[in-house]
Order: sequence, then structure tokens, then C-alpha cells
Amino acid sequence: MDMESGKQKFLSLYGEDNEELRGYFAPGRVNLIGEHIDYNGGHVFPCAIPNGITLIVRKRKDRKLRFYSENYPFGVKEDDLDTFSHRSVNGWTNYLLGVIAALKNKNILLPNGLDCLFFGNIPGSGLSSSAALEVVFGTALNDLFSLGLTPIEVALIGQESENKFNGMNCGIMDQFASAMGKKDKAILLDCATLKYTYVPLHLNGAKIIVTNSNKPHSLVSSHYNERRAECEEALKDLQTVLPIKHLCELTPEQFDEYKGKIHNKTCLLRAKHVVYEENRTQLAVKALNQDDLVTFGHLLTSSGDSLRYDYDATCFEIDTLVEASLAQKGVLGSRETGGGWGGNTITLIKSEDIPAFEKNVSEIYTAKTHLKASFVELEAGEGARRLF
Ligand code: GLA
Repeated sequence: MDMESGKQKFLSLYGEDNEELRGYFAPGRVNLIGEHIDYNGGHVFPCAIPNGITLIVRKRKDRKLRFYSENYPFGVKEDDLDTFSHRSVNGWTNYLLGVIAALKNKNILLPNGLDCLFFGNIPGSGLSSSAALEVVFGTALNDLFSLGLTPIEVALIGQESENKFNGMNCGIMDQFASAMGKKDKAILLDCATLKYTYVPLHLNGAKIIVTNSNKPHSLVSSHYNERRAECEEALKDLQTVLPIKHLCELTPEQFDEYKGKIHNKTCLLRAKHVVYEENRTQLAVKALNQDDLVTFGHLLTSSGDSLRYDYDATCFEIDTLVEASLAQKGVLGSRETGGGWGGNTITLIKSEDIPAFEKNVSEIYTAKTHLKASFVELEAGEGARRLF
């Protein structure tokens, strides 16, 4: 859907009014490296993508909330600012209601209801469409009602919507990338302090291909919450002997010295992934800054191996994609990206080898899984913004 047809659809759903229409956009994200360490006080290295969610919105004179999405076939969903509750199981509007609830928790009360139309072009699952939804809505509320929030505060409110309203104990990475993305840059974010720097994505003769497994996700948030709890258990054991607040404060050497304190074998593996992933992320950013794509690629692949063997956060389809990708000419590294158990892989590859890569990986993947993979070259895009 383009903006003009979006506006027409809006007016056909909600009618004419003299209140002004406004438009906002927030992107999805791809994480280059630093997986499952945002909630362990680590560094992550995501970028926003050009694809995202657009919102056309208008204030109402009463307290009604009306939501419509071109991407979900459920028609207009209606709610009320004063009486809304967490009603629909897996309903997409829960991400939006969670944003309003998070504002309420900060004593920010919205004076008017809203009519909203959303349309998005984030392909498949795993590229943070829920974060984009929270951030586009938070960005709109902030601007429409002059709430005075910074983009980082908008991101934190989106995270609170996930954590408290939607039962997904995610970290801050996705919402931060959506709110703070920059064209042609990745964001090196320290999740313990929210300090960040932008790093140019110079890939000299290579590209990153995002491959969607098109595997339907299921039970992702329960697996995810379980991993987070396992990390917390490992941290508690280590805190009996070390004055640390987060697992990512440990170097691999310190971890190897003290890992015997972690009682549960599974929790030990999860903590190992976390500590080594933090180290890999720092090395990867250094390698990228030095134009050392070979080292950068190796680190991507070891991050993926660690997600597979130590964090147990992959699945057959992703393992198949990564193995097929690593076997192709010109590939410097490949791994699962994002929350896990499906979604997408990223592959660093020399530009001239991309056509053969896509053809071969496509064939192998379909033969082994009966699913169709889709490919897109990664481009880093701008973060959330007002469009009109
Ligand atoms: C999901 C979460 C993020 C992060 C990643 C894994 O995308 O929303 O906070 O933990 O998984 O790196």
C-alpha cells in the first residue's frame, strides 16, 4: 500500500473530519552480531532496515481507540482509553495497548482517543515487526500530544509494552534499533548503559544477504523467556563469588575460571554463549572498523554455532540454511539473526557470488525442508520519524 491509497483507505474507514491527519514510520531491524545479550548487559550491533510500519493517525474528540491494519484481516478493532484491558490472545493491538499502559505507568494520560491505520512491508517474521509497531505508535503519541519523550524513551516504552503487557521478556535491542537507526550505519549499543555509537557499514566488495527461512514461528516467546530465566540462574550462582551485575561483565577467561560455580549444566551453556558472544561482538566491531571482513565473517559464523550448540536457539530450517550458505563460494560467514527458532539468517558474501549463492541455497533449502527461502540485500535505514 502506498501513502495515497493509505489516506484514501483511512477516510473510507473513519470518514472526513476537520482534525488533521498525520503520518509516521518506524523500521524493522537486523542484528549483525550480539545475540541474546541485550538482557545480559552486553553490546549488540543491529541496524534498522528500510522496511517498516507506517501509521496514519487522527485524534478523536472522544476516548475511543480504533485500530485497523492492512496486514491483518480482522477489520477495525475498537477499544477505549479508560477501559481497555489485555483482551485478545495474540492480538496485534496488544502491542499498542501495551504502549498506552506503559505511558499510564509513568502517569502520562492521553487526552484524546485516536483513529489509526497501519500498513507495513516487513517481510516474514523475525525482523521485529512488533518493535516497529510499538515504536511507530509511541513516536506518533509523543508528537501528537507533545509528550516530550526522547526517541530512547519511546524505545523503552515499547520494551515495557512487550515485557509487562505482552509477556515477552525481551531486551531493548529491537525497539532501540527501530527508534535510533541511521542510514548506512549499524548501532553499537551498550545495553547496560544505553550508550551507543554509529558504525559505518563498509563492506568493500561484499554484501550481507538476509535470508528468510519462511518457517512459521511458534512458541518463540516461551523459549525466549526460558533462556532469559536460565541466564538469571547462572548469574545468581556466579554472584555468590563475584561482584557482578550482568553476565556480560565477565571476560571469557574469568568465566572459564568461575564457571564451576554454576550448578545447572544447561544454565552453564547458556552463560557460556552470553560471555563469549559479548567478546565476539566487540571483536567483530573492531574487525569491521579495520576492514577485516575475513575475521568479521568468522565471528558471525561462531556466533551462529554458539546459538545452535550452547544456546539451543536455532531449528532444523535455520541449521539447513546456514550449512547450505557456508558451503557456497564467496561466503565469509553466516548465522541466524534475531530472537531465534526460525526467522532469518545473515550471510556475508562477496558481491560477485550472490546470484549463484541464491540459486544454490534456494534449491538445497527447498529440497530439505519443502519451504521456500527468500533473499534480500541488507541496507541500513533511518529510524522512526514523522512523515507528514
Ligand atoms: C529478540 C528480542 C531482543 C533480543 C533478540 C536476541 O529479538 O526482542 O531483545 O534479545 O531477540 O538477540
